[in-house]
Amino acid sequence: MSNPPVYTTSSGCPVSDPFSTQRISVQNNDYAYNPPVGPLLMQDFKLIDSLAHFDRERIPERVVHAKGAGAFGYFEVTDDISDICSAKFLNQIGKKTKILTRFSTVGGEKGSADTARDPRGFATKFYTEEGNLDLVYNNTPIFFIRDPTKFPHFIHTQKRNPQTNLKDANMFWDYLTNNPESLHQVMYLFSERGTPASLRTMNGYSGHTYKWYNAKGEWVYVQVHFKAQQGVHNLNNEQAGKLAGDNPDHTTQDLFESIEKGDYPVWDCYVQTMTLEQSKKAPFSVFDLTKIWPHADYPLRHFGRFVLNENPSNYFAEIEQAAFSPSNTIPSMQPSNDPVLQSRLFSYPDTHRHRLGANFHQIPVNCPLKSGSFAPQIRDGPMCVNGNLGATPNYAGAYNCPVQYTTSAKLSPNGSDEKYQGEVVPYHWEICDYDFVQPGKFWDVLGKTQGEQEALVHNIASHAKDAQPFIQEKVFEYFSKANPSIGPLIKKEIKKLSKL
Ligand code: NDP
Ligand code: HEM
Repeated sequence: MSNPPVYTTSSGCPVSDPFSTQRISVQNNDYAYNPPVGPLLMQDFKLIDSLAHFDRERIPERVVHAKGAGAFGYFEVTDDISDICSAKFLNQIGKKTKILTRFSTVGGEKGSADTARDPRGFATKFYTEEGNLDLVYNNTPIFFIRDPTKFPHFIHTQKRNPQTNLKDANMFWDYLTNNPESLHQVMYLFSERGTPASLRTMNGYSGHTYKWYNAKGEWVYVQVHFKAQQGVHNLNNEQAGKLAGDNPDHTTQDLFESIEKGDYPVWDCYVQTMTLEQSKKAPFSVFDLTKIWPHADYPLRHFGRFVLNENPSNYFAEIEQAAFSPSNTIPSMQPSNDPVLQSRLFSYPDTHRHRLGANFHQIPVNCPLKSGSFAPQIRDGPMCVNGNLGATPNYAGAYNCPVQYTTSAKLSPNGSDEKYQGEVVPYHWEICDYDFVQPGKFWDVLGKTQGEQEALVHNIASHAKDAQPFIQEKVFEYFSKANPSIGPLIKKEIKKLSKL
């Protein structure tokens, strides 16, 4: 640095020696002859300032998706889709929008291994002129649950045993086999895609159904897919296990170094669409997160690509403090009635208030950079650092502060598109035969690539071998719901592994 900054306390007072402490110099004292100084002084603000801040360095880690890596980049429109979506950031071919993507594992703690068998989070913030749009996706097109009440129960079984503080194969498989709607996702997780070779070589999927609106207020259901131009590449179970020990930060390092050397990862963006009429005829519910939309019936339509070309300049400020939420959306892109998605709309901003504080939206990485924001009633609170809107009235519609109200596409002149009438009922989504049809098709998809079915069986057996025999019996039965051949194959593989 040509003109290095002067070292100061946090209040800006210059300090001559950052490493000294204030002590009383004493000579010929029985207690302080070597070194010849007495105890520390409380008035040493430089020391107290530094220690007190250090004591508070850690913020709560994310309750799920704690381990992550991210980068900035841009999204570019490649095709006109104005017939289905009126988003301003999509309104011109070639138009670019700044983005931030954070990838993560789900169950492990902040220091856990990148190569753990786990879904990968794939969250992207688009800084659009209509506000921040967060697409908070995973690298799997389906999920473990469709009743949101199950989420805390399910997550607990994938984390640590309350007594031993160890990962626990019994509770892991006990929960999953008791809740067989999880089968589709669990097969995906135990396929080779459960251990991606790199964050750059995996796809992203909305999983949930969303609703997109065109300028006329007409809507379609959509599912979004991000496909890695780098291709999908995975590790096998043993490679992933070895890397977890040799280099637990393997994929974090790979992403950072690739971008640093100019090898920028790119994803193509596609959308599948379904009309309300089509959805009534589909053999599954569009609000069921355990189902995919078959490609043959709902073809993928290309609309853009995005590139990650800029590493964060500070990990904590830009990645750890990033707050992604499915509730951060724009007028033409709305959530569907998928109950898991609806629950997520509450859960993310709620956890952000806990993890980052009530003013988390003032943290630069979370600010709507392009559109700005004006919500004059959202005021004060801890760490309010943006000037707090100065003398502006602290309510909307004030006589001396004109403000415009715009209508979202959903509440277009056509009126509300959803009407419900009925009694309140306690609804628990029961299992039906169709729940096992797509897992069966997935088994067939794996059969098209040599070794993939064997890998699935091996990966399941390698994990389930640590469960008690009666739980293993439940595991055989569970996977046999997808195809009757799978249970016996896992049983055989567990026997083989037990002899090693
Ligand atoms: P298709 O045969 O048209 O699609 C199968 C899809 O499976 C591929 O396009 C690919 O999705 C994905 N795939 C291919 N090989 C593997 C593999 N070795 N491991 C994991 N995924 C693989 O059939 P359908 O659309 O009717 O789906 C059939 C089954 O495929 C589904 O039940 C589901 O389990 C699985 N699948 C479907 C997806 C979808 O959105 N339709 C997405 C991913 C899996 P991609 O190009 O996205 O990688
Ligand atoms: C992170 C809750 C389902 C994708 C989180 C976080 C919470 C949470 C509390 C931590 C957020 C933070 O601290 O910033 C839930 C609940 C769910 C659910 C309650 C279901 C009821 C899903 C599903 C997906 C998903 C279905 C994908 C389709 C993610 C991703 C992150 C995340 C990608 C990490 C975001 C980041 O990088 O900061 N979830 N989740 N979650 N979740 Fe979920």
